[in-house]
Amino acid sequence: MRPVILTFLLLTLATVGVLGFRGRVNENRPLMLVPDMDFQPRYNPQAESVFFGDGRTMRTPPAGTIAFGGNDYFSDSGRPRLDPDFAQLDDRYYRGKSGKDFIARSPIEIDLKVLKRGQERFNINCSPCHGRTGDGKGIVTQYGLVGVPSYHDDRLRKITDGEIFHVITNGKGLMSPYQYQIKPADRWAIVAYVRALQLSQNATLADVPEERRGEVKP
Ligand code: HEC
Repeated sequence: MRPVILTFLLLTLATVGVLGFRGRVNENRPLMLVPDMDFQPRYNPQAESVFFGDGRTMRTPPAGTIAFGGNDYFSDSGRPRLDPDFAQLDDRYYRGKSGKDFIARSPIEIDLKVLKRGQERFNINCSPCHGRTGDGKGIVTQYGLVGVPSYHDDRLRKITDGEIFHVITNGKGLMSPYQYQIKPADRWAIVAYVRALQLSQNATLADVPEERRGEVKP
């Protein structure tokens, strides 16, 4: 008889031990053998502060504060250096907009160097979908991507430089945004190259300098 009673007692203990405390929250910290830096005297974002009078952990910057950044925070004179790409104050350059409207023409000066840079960046970032000539027949379209427009459609020939910049920056439909991969200066270089592609597909003999028209083969 003894073993039966002992087994019964053990089973009861085990059942109560496992199931009997369900639903109760244990106030103690879990046992952590390697706590690393999980517990440390710091504030979490949005947390309550017992230090500041207004009870907020996150402080409001003083009025007139201007963001600055970049790797190189201080100029030789020791003054903070404004990094325009960090503050992004210029709406035309960073958003392609003036007020609510897209700007018609690129804010940067365009020369052959800018175009070459735009060509290189375009071929890397855009041509897989848009094709090297911008006809919308990049390699990815052979694998099922649909809806890539040709830059040589009338509508896209007429949209503003600012809008192209906006599409590169923020994406559109199935096209993802490129603001983190491509710096603003390169985005404008690409805009210039897209314009060059459009011109190249719709040029007439009149666009060729007179003295070189003889070189054009019909
Ligand atoms: C992954 C494929 C893909 C890549 C890469 C891509 N695009 Fe697109 N792009 C699209 C698709 C799809 C659309 C059509 C979006 C829509 O209208 O829904 C589009 C639309 C556009 C348009 C037309 C926007 C309009 O107003 O209709 C422009 C301009 C454009 N892309 C430029 C670029 C440039 C410049 C790059 C490189 C920085 C680029 N795209 C990279 C897929 C891509």
